[in-house]
Amino acid sequence: MKCVDDFRLRLGKQELVPIVIGGMGVDISTAELALEAARLGGIGHISDAMVPTVSDRRFKTRFVKDKLQEFKYNVANSDKRLVQFNLHQLAEATRMHVGRTMEAKRGPGLIFINCMEKLTMNAARETLRVRLRSALDAGIDGITLSAGLHLGSFALMADHPRFRDAKLGIIVSSLRALQLFLRKNARLDRLPDYIIVEGPLAGGHLGFGLDDWMKYDLAGIVAEVLNYLEAEHLTIPVIAAGGIFTGSDAVNFLELGAAGVQVATRFTVTHECGLPDRVKQHYFRAEEKDIEVNGLSPTGYPMRMLKGSPGIGAGIRPNCEAYGYLLDNEGRCAYIDAYNREVARHPQAKKISVKDKTCLCTHMRNFDIWTCGALTYRLKDTSRQLPDGSWQLLSAEHVFHDYQYSRDHRVALPEPA
Ligand SMILES: Cc1cc2nc3c(=O)[nH]c(=O)nc-3n(C[C@H](O)[C@H](O)[C@H](O)COP(=O)(O)O)c2cc1C
Repeated sequence: MKCVDDFRLRLGKQELVPIVIGGMGVDISTAELALEAARLGGIGHISDAMVPTVSDRRFKTRFVKDKLQEFKYNVANSDKRLVQFNLHQLAEATRMHVGRTMEAKRGPGLIFINCMEKLTMNAARETLRVRLRSALDAGIDGITLSAGLHLGSFALMADHPRFRDAKLGIIVSSLRALQLFLRKNARLDRLPDYIIVEGPLAGGHLGFGLDDWMKYDLAGIVAEVLNYLEAEHLTIPVIAAGGIFTGSDAVNFLELGAAGVQVATRFTVTHECGLPDRVKQHYFRAEEKDIEVNGLSPTGYPMRMLKGSPGIGAGIRPNCEAYGYLLDNEGRCAYIDAYNREVARHPQAKKISVKDKTCLCTHMRNFDIWTCGALTYRLKDTSRQLPDGSWQLLSAEHVFHDYQYSRDHRVALPEPA
């Protein structure tokens, strides 16, 4: 049987190991993790979710404090229309996060940024424009457009000097979404450089319905997309994502005609992953029954997570003056509505619980919503259990090489610690 290393992903003039580490916000796919993928000849992603917050943690900046200071007067007000991002600061934070990462890049691979359209930030178009263009300014190798249809995103970059030289790709979960995107962008004469097809077993938000995600399978969607591209004489590399757990799983997709695979879950238990080490142990310990797809995300997309995530059912006051990444253009968020409903129902309560939505910004920032892929329960088979019952963390290099070289569905265990 072949291994992943028998294949190469061609993007323009570049030849890469066909392994992409997917974007994981908020700073779960850290610069360190992405840099390892690039050093090893693949592609790593940083994420542009909540970059001002990430910058504060990474570079000791004060973006969140300053925003909270400016809008402090509004904290008790349920109307969040006035809480706006300062676009100059947003640009500065993005340029710093991307620029410092690119300066540290070594090796033949690439670093992309995962850009979520669903972070509407109380001014969807203006903030997205700044995020995309600042990432290009700061030298990012490529941008992966995710979580949303992104029908207007290429146009927001069209007059940027790097529009044709940076690699631009899109994540879709159906042929229909891809067709819509291509149709909408036809007049720009600029095709995506790659298409990531993400199936229903992925982590994070899913591009399927809450009640029907289990009816789809990745191989079927990948085959449909490949057939369509062939019929249209379009040569765009297709990268398969979601539930690819072993090198041999990856080979199956490469033999089907995919140009590469995007993987994430197996890297959540590496040293370089941004989750706190104690949370990584929860990922190792998870059983299949501990993982669910639910409707708690205020984005409206289903999301997969561990049922034991501390953010589930918490009733914290919305934190939009500090964060506010999911506010729509009218300053609304489904969590604010759910929270206000509970406050109205229990006017005397000191502490309330909100069961149907979660304050995603705050809980992702604090690593209290443990989003994960469907196969997280297999992570315990990828490492060694230590005498105290915990699992040995892995290096990103170890996991990357296991994907690259393993055959016959074998998973290499790490050297004993
Ligand atoms: C912890 C975690 C966080 C994720 N966050 C994001 C995200 O912010 N944006 C995104 O487009 N995909 C996100 N994903 C999806 C991954 O980038 C990737 O496409 C998918 O999880 C691959 O499947 P696998 O995890 O089974 O390998 C996330 C996945 C995980 C496991």
